[in-house]
Parts: sequence; structure tokens; C-alpha cells
Amino acid sequence: MALRVLLIDPDESWLTSADELFKKHLYAVDTVTNGKDAQIKMMNGKYFAVVMNYAVKNHTANQVLKFMNRMVHDYDPRVVIILEEEDLGDDDDRTDERLKKEGVDEILIKPFELEDLITVLEGHQGISDIVNNLPKRKGQSDEVEVDMSDDNFTKIKIDDFYSLKSVLYDIYVRLKSGRYIKILHSGDEFSSERLDNYKNEKGVEYLYFHVKDRKKYIKFNDHLVKKALKSNKMDSHKKTNMLKNVAEKFMEESFVEGLKPVIIEQGRQICENVYNLIEGEESLYKLLRNYQDFDPSAFSHAYLVTLFSSAIIMQFEWQSKTMIENTALACMFHDIGKMKLPKDILEVRPEDMNESQLAEYQKHPELGLEIVQDNRTITTAVKQIIHQHHEYFDGSGYPNALKGQSILTLANIVSLADIFSHIIVENNLKPIEALKFMLGNPEVVVKFNSMIFEKFINVFVDPGKVKKNHALPSNSRMVSSKKAS
Ligand SMILES: [Fe+2]
Ligand SMILES: [Fe+2]
Repeated sequence: MALRVLLIDPDESWLTSADELFKKHLYAVDTVTNGKDAQIKMMNGKYFAVVMNYAVKNHTANQVLKFMNRMVHDYDPRVVIILEEEDLGDDDDRTDERLKKEGVDEILIKPFELEDLITVLEGHQGISDIVNNLPKRKGQSDEVEVDMSDDNFTKIKIDDFYSLKSVLYDIYVRLKSGRYIKILHSGDEFSSERLDNYKNEKGVEYLYFHVKDRKKYIKFNDHLVKKALKSNKMDSHKKTNMLKNVAEKFMEESFVEGLKPVIIEQGRQICENVYNLIEGEESLYKLLRNYQDFDPSAFSHAYLVTLFSSAIIMQFEWQSKTMIENTALACMFHDIGKMKLPKDILEVRPEDMNESQLAEYQKHPELGLEIVQDNRTITTAVKQIIHQHHEYFDGSGYPNALKGQSILTLANIVSLADIFSHIIVENNLKPIEALKFMLGNPEVVVKFNSMIFEKFINVFVDPGKVKKNHALPSNSRMVSSKKAS
């Protein structure tokens, strides 16, 4: 069954082109030119998404939003608002905030490509929505050769590829740079024979899919990983590997949004190296597997923290390969102490904990240190970072409320990457939005050495603009003359 979308826009020609494109993407579409008809449609049918131009009249967009908040309870449509440049007040952020409070999920500002609207809605689809919207067919379509730039593709090892009965997105093999064969089309019945054939007869090692389908990959594999982790049948190497793949694609997805691609690519390489290092050292690998069995989501968190920490360190002149690798190792294990906490504590978010729960939770850096203390492959510097990853520059951290220069620079970098990752994931923000959020909250910014924060901003594509628009804190004069340990 196709997903239903309601398009509300006074501009009929826009509606016609949008209607055409949505249908091409297999949605079922209703179009209306005013708010009143929109409300009637919503009373009579359920929609996956409602896309409304803010300039709509008779009833206004605000009235329609209010109506939705009052009337539409038994299902939860995604709401996309389209703004014209002149609808924005002096402060775009405030308009954003107000609309989000009224239940708006996404805001697009005209002019934009219609395809962007499709992408935005895809981001909101769960696995069942994606499957529902697939044009399912029996058997497989013919293979097609295509010429397309390598930038459009992301790859996965053929052995690590899993699929539902129907293929969720187009799958390719690469012939040479810029030339690919589509071997499975989205909606095809999955054929493991076809894949085996490519692997065994033609020696194909990697499968490729479009970067725009990465969200689907992540959603599906994340769902798969959760199921796999509950099953005792799958061995722990395989589980770890699945998690690593999801985490990696998750990271790729996060960098496209405004972070400098080169820095992130280097960071990705560092994650890969540190993973290989862990895999090659049985005591570490065992630790990682236990940790991941204990809390699967911790794995992609650790990956993100590793990525962002590496990106920040690379901005400093005093960086070295050993330093980056040490920090990366610390990042992978920074929250390992949580394994020793009672499980029920971890089900509560720190901000919702009562005093005694919080006191218990805040033991995790020390517990982490205990776990790795006797491991000889882990250096003292790594152990210290694990111990200090919640110490903050203003002295508000734990376990020892260390302040300023008494905190290791690398530990302060990890704590910044840690908080940044939490903000992105928990609030579903793009990196640049998460940065703005941090800058808007001085109590967060003072947790870090301003020198580190400054370097962190340089990881973004347009750091000059961020710095101009937001006053940076000045909490230190530090330019470390000695090397951080
Ligand atoms: Fe932590
Ligand atoms: Fe953490």
C-alpha cells in the first residue's frame, strides 16, 4: 500500500509538478489549494505526511496546524512546512522554534528542488513505511549498466549484505570508476544466488548503493542488528561486524551535513584503524564484544565520539599519529564502565535521574578505569582519558570536579565530542544545528577549553560564518606550549 501524502499549496502549477514527482516515487497524493479543504481531507483519510505552504489561505497554515493538534490524534503524520523567504522574521531560528512547537517536523524554504522534499520525507520513514512503499514484484529485473560518478555511491562488503524478501534499494556492482551494473532493483525479490554468482564466479568483493539510500540502509540494518542481538544463534564476531557496518554508514550519513568532508574522511580512516587494532588484540576485542552485547547502541555512540574527537585533534598543530590513535582507543571504550552499572539505571536518561541514581551513574568513569586498569595493551594516557571523560573545564564535571588545566586536553576533547554526539542523536539534529544549539547554551560551552571549542568549529564547512554569528566564550588563554599527554 502506497504511503499517502497531502500537499497544500495555493500555487496550482507547483502542486501539479509536485503531484507528478510524488507519484513517480510511488506515493498516493492528494492536492488542495486552501486550508479548509486540507482539513476536510484530513478528517476523511490518514496521511503519512502533510506538506503545507505557509502562505496558504482560507484557513491559514496556523489554523490548520492548530486543527491538526486538536483533531488528528489516532495517527501521527509528518508535517513539512514550506516557507517563502519573506515569511521569515529577523531571526530565522525563532520562526523555526515556533513552528516546531506547533508540531512541524521539517521546514523547507523556497526555492528548493522538489527532489529535496522527497529526500526529507524519506528520512522520516520507518522500515515498515519503506517496505509499504516498495513496488514489489516477483523475481528480478534485468541487469542494467549505468554511467555515474563514484561520488553517488557508497559500498559495503558483499558478505556483510543482508536483505529483506524484497530489495529495499537498488544494488550495484562496480565495473570501473564511473561505471556500474545495477544487479538488483528496489522492489525485486531478493536473490542470494545472484549475489553468490557475482561473488564466486566474478570475484566481486563489494556491493554499491546510492548515497541517497544510506538512510534506508541504516534503518534496515539497525533493525536487523537489534533483532540479531537478541538471538543467541548468531556468533559474536558476526554481531560486532554488523554493528560496525551500521555505525560506519551512520557516520557517513552524519558528515554530509556541513562538516568538512576531508577531515571526516580522515576520521573515518582512524575509526577503521582503531577497529582493526582492537580486532587484532584478543583482550580488547573480547572487551568490545562484551560491551556491545551489554548495550548495542553504545557501539555507534563510541564510533561517533571517536570520529569527532579525531576531527578536533587534527586541527591542532601538536597532533601526532600516536596521540590520535590513543584517543581513538579511549573513545571506543570511554563508557565501558557502564557495564558495571545496574541495568535499570541505564534505562533512565541522566537528566531524568533522581539524586541517588545520578550518583550511581556518575561512577561510570571510575568503573571504566577499573575495567581497563590491568590491561597492558592500554596505555596510561588512554586510561586517564577514560577516567576524565566527564570532567569539565569549569569544574562542573565528575568524578573529581577537576578544573581548567588539570584536565587532560585530550580528555576535554573527548568530552566535547561525547556531548556533541548525544545532542545530534537524541535530538535528531544535523551537526550544524547541534553546534548552534551548543553555542546558544553558554552553560554547555564553558565546559570546554575555548581553544578546543574554536578548533571544533573549524571542523565545519563554514566556520567563519558560525564564529561571526555567535560570540565565542573566552574561558582560557591556553595555547598549549607543552604537548598534551
Ligand atoms: Fe560517559
Ligand atoms: Fe559517552
